[in-house]
Amino acid sequence: MEIREADHKDFPVLVMLTEIEGWNYTEEDFNWFSRVGGKTLVATNMGEIVGMGTIFDYGNVGWISNILVKPRERGHGIGAEILTECVRRLYDKSTVALFSYERSADFYEANGFRLDLEAHLVSLKSGDAIGGRVEVLVGAEVEASMLRMDQECFGYERRRVIKGMAERGIVLKPRGWDGFAIVRKDPVEPSVGPVISEKGTGHELLLVSLEAAGPNAKAVVLEEGIEFLIYEERIRRLYFGAPLKIDRSRAVAFAGLELG
Ligand SMILES: CC(C)(COP(=O)(O)OP(=O)(O)OC[C@H]1O[C@@H](n2cnc3c(N)ncnc32)[C@H](O)[C@@H]1OP(=O)(O)O)[C@@H](O)C(=O)NCCC(=O)NCCS
Repeated sequence: MEIREADHKDFPVLVMLTEIEGWNYTEEDFNWFSRVGGKTLVATNMGEIVGMGTIFDYGNVGWISNILVKPRERGHGIGAEILTECVRRLYDKSTVALFSYERSADFYEANGFRLDLEAHLVSLKSGDAIGGRVEVLVGAEVEASMLRMDQECFGYERRRVIKGMAERGIVLKPRGWDGFAIVRKDPVEPSVGPVISEKGTGHELLLVSLEAAGPNAKAVVLEEGIEFLIYEERIRRLYFGAPLKIDRSRAVAFAGLELG
């Protein structure tokens, strides 16, 4: 088996592979990962793609996502080999981290990753009117203070990713408060994140953002029991190396399952 960097000719196959898992990727998503500094790796057997993974460089932190093995090739160590290669390519980071669905967490733990925290994939309950006292400025520019907040809250240094997300989405900013949310009004996979806001305003900014993203928009949140939300699935953040940072007083939602 060979593991190499994917190029654009591989993207149609990767879209087909991820479709089986219901991940809703398009070829443009893989192009976008490259544009914001992500590297997608593919595992091939006699030239056929049998698995994949994507890595991101967030300064001191390396982020791994999209680990996937073709269904009929599972259980033969391919996933472990891809994961090992992703970690190897992030050798200079003090921490390598990822999100896992609960059902796959044992796979990562068997490969040396440790549980950092539990998060939750959520959507907005329909029909509820969200009253609010936070006035939101729509379409804000990404400012240095937002990038600093992102780094302070999550420990990641990921200017390109945040700017790239803002370019393909909308930035909401609570007027008079420190904070921001990125909203992606995608017709297939609307989402919200990251959401960071000063104490007392975070939930409201999250709810307004989910409403703005459109029906069935999802976010990955830290807290349990937030009113107006449907908790769909538990997510685990796992890490390898030094423990990760999180500022729970301001961080409300992560950037998404792929981006941490
Ligand atoms: C998770 C996944 C990548 C593992 O790939 P794989 O090639 O089957 O994994 P490996 O053969 O390297 O398995 C390594 C070990 O993890 C275990 N394992 C594999 N998949 C597992 C799972 N879903 N849950 C628990 N343990 C798992 C294997 O039993 C094996 O343990 P062993 O060496 O003690 O026997 C693969 O099941 C997959 O593509 N799943 C669907 C996509 C997905 O959910 N990806 C993760 C996103 S969070």
